[in-house]
Amino acid sequence: MELKGKVALVTGSAKRLGKAIALALGKYGCNIAVHYRLSESEALETVKQLRSMRVKSAHFCADLTNEEQVKAMFESVAQTFGGLDILVNNAAIFARTPFDQLDVNTWQKFIDTNLTSVFLCSRYASDFLSEGQGGVIINISDTAAFKPWAGFLPYCVSKAGVIALTLGLAKALAPKVRVNCVALGTILPPEDYGEDWEREMSAKTLMQRLGTTEEVVQAVIFCITCDYLTGAVIPLDGGRHLR
Ligand SMILES: NC(=O)c1ccc[n+]([C@@H]2O[C@H](COP(=O)([O-])OP(=O)(O)OC[C@H]3O[C@@H](n4cnc5c(N)ncnc54)[C@H](OP(=O)(O)O)[C@@H]3O)[C@@H](O)[C@H]2O)c1
Repeated sequence: MELKGKVALVTGSAKRLGKAIALALGKYGCNIAVHYRLSESEALETVKQLRSMRVKSAHFCADLTNEEQVKAMFESVAQTFGGLDILVNNAAIFARTPFDQLDVNTWQKFIDTNLTSVFLCSRYASDFLSEGQGGVIINISDTAAFKPWAGFLPYCVSKAGVIALTLGLAKALAPKVRVNCVALGTILPPEDYGEDWEREMSAKTLMQRLGTTEEVVQAVIFCITCDYLTGAVIPLDGGRHLR
């Protein structure tokens, strides 16, 4: 797939990894729908940066756990940009959830936010992605899906669901829409995690360091542009899944 002139929506792209993916796609000449839920000023800043690259960009607010809001967002994106070629399902939540304190509301919040949202976005994007030459979906998961962490079970299970959903969607939407997944290790620690944690996480990888946003962008771009790739899950965690 040639990126120049394509329309991409990146969920949760007001900041952090989503923003890095949106800016990289903008650099390759894609027009970008910046999705956000609460981070409006950061979303506007991302749009401003994208427009300075001379691509079209606009921001769209939606709670991705709300079906009506998701449906309305994709209709509005297609109306604004004249279609949709690329969907990056990046938005998610992450938090420690000790098993002995876990209740069903917390469990459901992770499943709704991290997994059902990916289903809803893919469902409502698929009609637009199937038009013309077809499109591509990239889901962002976590290699903790393969070896779940006991203290983060709802998160890990939601991300395992994203991998299963990727494989199923690749079959359901072929040949018009390709669906791939990048499963990350630690790249950008949550803002309130310290340097000790970073050292500890680095030591768990074969590469002895955290990944970078540039490396995430590289993997995402590869998944989008390699036309024979569908149903692929790329572990991008410096080899941590082998330890
Ligand atoms: N960071 C890492 O090292 C790492 C490691 C492994 C996997 N990952 C995965 O990579 C992706 C990006 O990670 P990140 O750390 O950059 O993400 P993040 O900062 O934790 O979250 C990204 C965005 O998700 C949005 N979001 C959360 N709940 C939402 C909802 N109900 N509706 C709509 N949007 C919602 C938020 O948007 P607003 O701020 O606008 O509300 C938030 O800015 C995630 O899928 C994450 O699981 C990240």
